[in-house]
Amino acid sequence: MESEFERKVLMCGIVGYTGTNDATDILIGGLKRLEYRGYDSAGIALGNDEGIESVCRKGRVGDLEQTVAGMQLDGACGIGHTRWATHGTPSEANAHPHLSCEGDIAIVHNGIIENFMELKEELLSRGHEFTSQTDSEVIAHLLEEEYALLAFDDSGQDDIANAQGRRLDRTPDKMIASGDPSVLAQAVSHVTERLIGSYGLAAITSHEPGVIVVARKDSPLVVGAAPDGSYLASDMIALLDATRDVLILEDGQVAELTPSGIALFAREHDELVSCEYETTHIDWSVDSAEKGGYDDFMLKEIHEQPRVIRDTLAGRLVGDRITIDELGMSPAELNLIDKVYIIACGTSYHAGLIAKNLIERWAHIPTEVEVASEFRYRNPIITPTTLVVAVSQSGETADTLAAIRDARIKGARVFGITNVVGSPVARESDGVIYTKANKEIAVASTKSFLGQVVSLTLLALLLAQTKGNLTTGQIRLLFSELADTAEQVEEIISDTTDIDSAALACKDASSALFIGRGMGAATATEGALKLKEISYLHAEAYPAGEMKHGPIALIDEGFPVIAIATKSPTYEKVLSNLQESKARGAMVVAIATQGDEEIGKYADHVIFIPKVRDELSPITASVPLQLFARAIALERGCDVDQPRNLAKSVTVE
Ligand code: M6R
Repeated sequence: MESEFERKVLMCGIVGYTGTNDATDILIGGLKRLEYRGYDSAGIALGNDEGIESVCRKGRVGDLEQTVAGMQLDGACGIGHTRWATHGTPSEANAHPHLSCEGDIAIVHNGIIENFMELKEELLSRGHEFTSQTDSEVIAHLLEEEYALLAFDDSGQDDIANAQGRRLDRTPDKMIASGDPSVLAQAVSHVTERLIGSYGLAAITSHEPGVIVVARKDSPLVVGAAPDGSYLASDMIALLDATRDVLILEDGQVAELTPSGIALFAREHDELVSCEYETTHIDWSVDSAEKGGYDDFMLKEIHEQPRVIRDTLAGRLVGDRITIDELGMSPAELNLIDKVYIIACGTSYHAGLIAKNLIERWAHIPTEVEVASEFRYRNPIITPTTLVVAVSQSGETADTLAAIRDARIKGARVFGITNVVGSPVARESDGVIYTKANKEIAVASTKSFLGQVVSLTLLALLLAQTKGNLTTGQIRLLFSELADTAEQVEEIISDTTDIDSAALACKDASSALFIGRGMGAATATEGALKLKEISYLHAEAYPAGEMKHGPIALIDEGFPVIAIATKSPTYEKVLSNLQESKARGAMVVAIATQGDEEIGKYADHVIFIPKVRDELSPITASVPLQLFARAIALERGCDVDQPRNLAKSVTVE
């Protein structure tokens, strides 16, 4: 039974096109690119002066593609949406686009309208009829009212011709168009004034054929002009085939797309005023968004990790000094830092756990790592000498963003570590390091995790350098060993025989424990998350020393215990934990250091990795854990790139 308040339509993908080509293929192609963000239903709407045709399907974009293949959809202007719902059953009725009562306006929306109930009641009382349980549908009905107010005179006469006449004053085929906004743009702007929450939205109307209007708040939107028309998407990956020069919309801006170009407007005193803008050039290869010969994106991304390490380190050691100019803080300011908070979610949080060890060991600065959704509601103690480090692959995770805003209000300096150029985390932080992972498609983070760990390691070195806790010789040595991990990771991924046989032995388990101590305990957390998110096998990570305090009760014959047992100051203690596990029948899989002749006595399966110093072991030890999780997931018949119930970006709390 579907929830009455099926309200959260989130983490979705939005596309749009208006130009000289057939829009259907372009929209479907764009939605396929975005499918990794959400994939429980999809739809498109095409508009021309005869009306709007809309087709929605429950299921994947492929289902929608098959449906439209059998239809005669006609139009060179349209919008599309692929959706991931958090509440209620995904259904055709709840799929976007949503239409106004008259069917003359269609919208797609990404985000959440928090005051939708209030708006819906208001609209119902004025006779609007709703066809879905989504929050988004209120936008279509509000637009219908607003549009009628602006476009039709008192006698009900259509005043659109005038509006169109004004728009035609614009210089064609230029990115910077001038002139008045369309009626639709004005209506969208008025409607957004009434919305509380987050939105990336696109709207079309049959009254203004060829026009698409977009607006955003706390939800990403990019637009770009190409020779064949104008494009929009919630993620630039969907635009790259058409154009590499994109405009990343800011909160509060409204853009109007026509076949001849894009006009940008901002709201000033209740009016939309035209703005000039500069585009950002995107130089990712489109190929980096394709599988490049690998069976799945996850494997491709695992193989990209040596490149990510090299790119993330490039230019960071200048002479003998670690250099992160983007931090936006002078050495004197850095020197004052007496507390670090790392805030993040999921895998990024695990990168933070690793960094805590490094910052405390090398820079001697007390460091706390906190899940962003806890941090934001906890009133943490922050002073002007606190550095808050926000880690987010996507740069748009809602809780992380909220935590950043909170920390800044409290006076902290906020430093972002993200993979996405121009993302909200990048824009809202005082400084930013980009992880150089390039676009990550698989929902399970791999290469971006490694990019985060390497970036955080650099940050730890910088703080240690500034505080004078490491000599220049030590810094140089650590940096060079950090750089060597690229080759070591190459070696690990070049032969997965032992990883695959360990995975085969564990594939039928219903639960698994990941254990380690120190750096290994932090690494174990990410190993467990990777396994559960792509193989649906329950996994937990525990500091190995905690085993006797409870988790050991889980162990019986054949229960998988995956141990980070690399050479470290606590290696002997981990061996004791393995002995205890084996004594109770556990199937032990050990990630161990090459040359370790002892480990075979304690483990059923050993995965050897190159010798690195303990502090750098998370970089090398994480890689076999990624491959192990993937191998088990494939054995269990799971889709490793698009695991059930997950979305790549979590843009609402
Ligand atoms: O984009 P972010 O790094 O902020 O995302 C945080 C988590 O949602 C993300 O790491 C999630 O846990 C991934 N599915 C992990 O593979």
